[in-house]
Amino acid sequence: MSALSNRINNLSESATIKMAKMGRELAAKGVDVISLSFGEPDFHTPEHIKEAAKQAMDKNMTYYTPVAGYPDLRKAVVNKLKTENGLDYEPTDIVVSTGAKQAIANAVLCLVNPGEEVIIPTPYWVSYSEVVKLAEGVSVFINTTVEQNFKITPAQLEAAITPKTKLFMFSSPCNPTGSVYSKDELEGLAKVFEKNPHVYILSDEIYEHINYIDKHESIAQFDYIKDRVVIINGWSKAFAMTGWRIGYTASSKEIATACDKMQGQITSGTCSITQRAGVAAYEGGLETVLEMRKAFKKRRDIVYKLLSEIDGLQVNLPDGAFYFFPNVTSFFGKSYNGKTINDSDELSIFLLEEAHVATVGGDSFGDPTSIRLSYAAAEDKLIEAVRRIKEALAKLS
Ligand SMILES: Cc1ncc(COP(=O)(O)O)c(C=O)c1O
Repeated sequence: MSALSNRINNLSESATIKMAKMGRELAAKGVDVISLSFGEPDFHTPEHIKEAAKQAMDKNMTYYTPVAGYPDLRKAVVNKLKTENGLDYEPTDIVVSTGAKQAIANAVLCLVNPGEEVIIPTPYWVSYSEVVKLAEGVSVFINTTVEQNFKITPAQLEAAITPKTKLFMFSSPCNPTGSVYSKDELEGLAKVFEKNPHVYILSDEIYEHINYIDKHESIAQFDYIKDRVVIINGWSKAFAMTGWRIGYTASSKEIATACDKMQGQITSGTCSITQRAGVAAYEGGLETVLEMRKAFKKRRDIVYKLLSEIDGLQVNLPDGAFYFFPNVTSFFGKSYNGKTINDSDELSIFLLEEAHVATVGGDSFGDPTSIRLSYAAAEDKLIEAVRRIKEALAKLS
């Protein structure tokens, strides 16, 4: 009998963390591995943000903070939501957490009762279904395909809702597909939620600033459902602050109070120094963010062209985030050196072993037809990685 709870035994290891680990192990043996597995900007945190953190330390801002974050940080988030997104919130609607990841966990654990259904369009970010398991909810998946640019329709949403549905979770821009919902598309979904007042919406907007087509649109802009929307956002992707661990929820006061209570029993407020850096990031303007976005767009275009030239890959042009999610089903059943590829996880391992390029198989994103490649790496590395992938895939027959 296992000493461990069913809760942990049923939880899957994060596939992105696992692949990064495998890549690092291979690299430690002296192999030149190019890692396209992690969702992390390869830029440094901008100087003015680091400076604010240094000053916080010098001023001994090293004590416990309010659980939901320093008051001026919550105010800075409110100002950002107003000026950038046209959304009205109050500081008490904001709960700052240890990364957007904790913000998501807070919201799901505060909203979902055991047995309640959570609708998640596939492919989805790896942690969504796992945190639903922790809440003992039931994930209900809506499948999308590369042909529909991985976006669900209002009719698909309507068909998935039952009296037991409690929550709908999605990201736009999306990890892993890079798809971005337009205002019209969001309005189509919002109309379905209007007819179903028992359903809450978790809108993960962490890639808001990595959007190549338009200004960011939040589903919270539709007043008739705003009270049921929990916005998830943070600093990790926009300000290259993945290691600082800071994100937030913006929601109704009822949900914010619940998240504050949940967090107060698990981690308390996130790092005091990080919070000062968070204020500096939001008060410092978007210049560095826009520079990063420009670089990501250039890389996207380079990688798209190169991936499109590989026989057997079906690729869409992502409108946001920094991932490609090509369909690789044409390689299933093919072999090399006596080893047959049966699914996208096996293809991902084949690419690590043969091409020394770390990617992530689609299974943990709820879509075993594809693999995910991050293009948050230097241009020369990306070009070399895709060359190696092409060469390795050509060996399969
Ligand atoms: C869609 C999505 N949501 C949330 C997160 C978590 O972000 P954070 O680093 O702020 O916890 C990530 C990180 O990869 C992500 O891709």
